[in-house]
Amino acid sequence: MKRLTTETGAGQWGSALAFAGALFGLEVTVYMVKVSYEQKPYRRAMMETWGATVYASPSNLTNAGRGILKDDPDSPGSLGIAISEAVEDAATHDDAKYSLGSVVNHVLLHQTVMGQEAKKQMEMAGEYPDVVIACVGGGSNFAGLTYPFIGDKLKGRQPRTRFIAAEPAACPTLTRGVYAYDFGDAVGMGPVVKMFTLGHSFIPDRIHSGGLRYHGDAPSLCALVDHKVVEARAYKQNECFAEAVRFARSEGFLPAPESAHALRAVAEEAAAAREAGEKRTILFGLSGHGHFDMSAYDAYFAGKLEDVELSQSRIDAAIEELPRVPAMS
Ligand SMILES: Cc1ncc(COP(=O)(O)O)c(C=O)c1O
Repeated sequence: MKRLTTETGAGQWGSALAFAGALFGLEVTVYMVKVSYEQKPYRRAMMETWGATVYASPSNLTNAGRGILKDDPDSPGSLGIAISEAVEDAATHDDAKYSLGSVVNHVLLHQTVMGQEAKKQMEMAGEYPDVVIACVGGGSNFAGLTYPFIGDKLKGRQPRTRFIAAEPAACPTLTRGVYAYDFGDAVGMGPVVKMFTLGHSFIPDRIHSGGLRYHGDAPSLCALVDHKVVEARAYKQNECFAEAVRFARSEGFLPAPESAHALRAVAEEAAAAREAGEKRTILFGLSGHGHFDMSAYDAYFAGKLEDVELSQSRIDAAIEELPRVPAMS
């Protein structure tokens, strides 16, 4: 293999793979969702610094991209479309393989290094969390932090700990999707998996949380939501940015817009604990910094960030396109 292909939304996974490619002497081709490519030019420059080639997706380089552009030349793209393009690129070149950055089990399990470290850190602090919170795009960030703790809960060791998955109201997979078999990519090149989905053809609005604009979610996380082990909540972007600003002003650390969704849930939990007059230990995942998102912060301060009202009819239209299972005779 000479080359890896991949998708990236906000650009974190693309950056990680670009750097890994540089270390291992592999070329890396990144299909970066167009809306993020435009919102965050310096993320692209960072990947290029590590030697990767970055294309805005949908692109004219693949059948998948050309098909989407034919229907909508101004398509903002989505993680599902970028996955289709990266898969097609690898499938049509013998020297290339595709590498997925979230959703599937091996990615989730690699990420659990976060939860395992967090457990050790909690032990050092003499605490165990009452609530664990993280944001969800495809699910690897959430699973990475929470699964080691969820393991304790399922084994009956910490039955009272709760888990909250925070997602954008503009892409409310876990809170408004259907639990069904669907494709992980936009044009249906990959296998179908059972997950909460808004439909593989759903293209979310241009919110500033590129990493959370995915129509489905990791199947194991969806099963945990279905079994009510994990609770999901959806938030609009202005309320998330308000928490990001509050956090930045108290901690000096500027959160990514994706992480701000987790912060919004943290604020709700803290307020509920205060109201109930109880002590609550809240662990949350601060999944990234927002240094490439200053245009989003600017838009928030200028009052120009839109809170998307996602209509049920848009979800229904995409759900109509779910793959059909032939009836058993
Ligand atoms: C800052 C940040 N947080 C969280 C996520 C969520 O990713 P996932 O749920 O797919 O692991 C992303 C994805 O790009 C991100 O950029």
